[in-house]
Amino acid sequence: MRLVLLGPPGAGKGTQAQALGELWGIPQVASGDLLRAVVRENSKLGREAASYMERGQLVPDELVLKLIAERLRKKDARGGFILDGFPRNVMQAERLAAGLERVGLKLDKVVAVIVPDEEIVKRISGRRTCEDCATMYHVVFEPPAKADVCDKCGGQLYQREDDAEQTVRERIKVYHAATQPLLEHYARLGLLAQVDGVGRPDEVEKRILAALDGLAALRQAGAGVGHARS
Ligand code: AP5
Repeated sequence: MRLVLLGPPGAGKGTQAQALGELWGIPQVASGDLLRAVVRENSKLGREAASYMERGQLVPDELVLKLIAERLRKKDARGGFILDGFPRNVMQAERLAAGLERVGLKLDKVVAVIVPDEEIVKRISGRRTCEDCATMYHVVFEPPAKADVCDKCGGQLYQREDDAEQTVRERIKVYHAATQPLLEHYARLGLLAQVDGVGRPDEVEKRILAALDGLAALRQAGAGVGHARS
């Protein structure tokens, strides 16, 4: 399965990508996580990326494309992947398609998780993430058993710096301007499914699986749904 999860900040892309990745045994490839790892290195590139992320702006395409290409070349992505947060604009989508095409592959599906703007701020302000294994929680909707401690690995939970309300509002604006046009792009290519992202995470997951329909059933039966030409 080669899947893209699209949607505004806080739509639940990361939550769903984690769950589906575990279900299918394929990696979640999150551009935001890759960028945050670069930022933590505190290199010149990391500081440049941070300056965009702190303002809720998109990081320049070339840096993101390089990180994604490196990640998709890793062995664990050979059997499929779930892209979360990438592509973010039509240019990135075209470069992704061209890169996959070069190795005889293409996307199976693009699922857009739709959540109204008002819900987003509520969700993001309660988000907590494990600094060790990146598992996500929400203080109200998905709380850990012990406050600020990861259920899975015991790591410390933290709140992302770009989750301040002002920055979230900027990220929503950027989503509507740069990323939403991708829905039309993928609809034209016949790849798009839209799913209501409001409801419990397990309900949203069921809707995604229903939208993938035959593709997911094939994957679970071990038949694979890649498009390699050879
Ligand atoms: P990124 O890390 O990708 O952030 P985002 O797209 O803004 O999305 P989020 O991670 O905030 O939300 P999500 O949809 O994953 O929701 P989640 O599952 O966490 O990007 C950060 C920054 O990096 C960007 O602003 C940009 O600067 C840069 N960047 C990244 N990719 C880029 C690219 N391709 N090009 C250029 N720049 C790029 O859920 C949110 C919260 O809600 C959690 O607490 C969760 O527990 C909870 N929740 C989830 N589902 C539900 C539900 N159904 N009901 C209630 N609560 C829920």
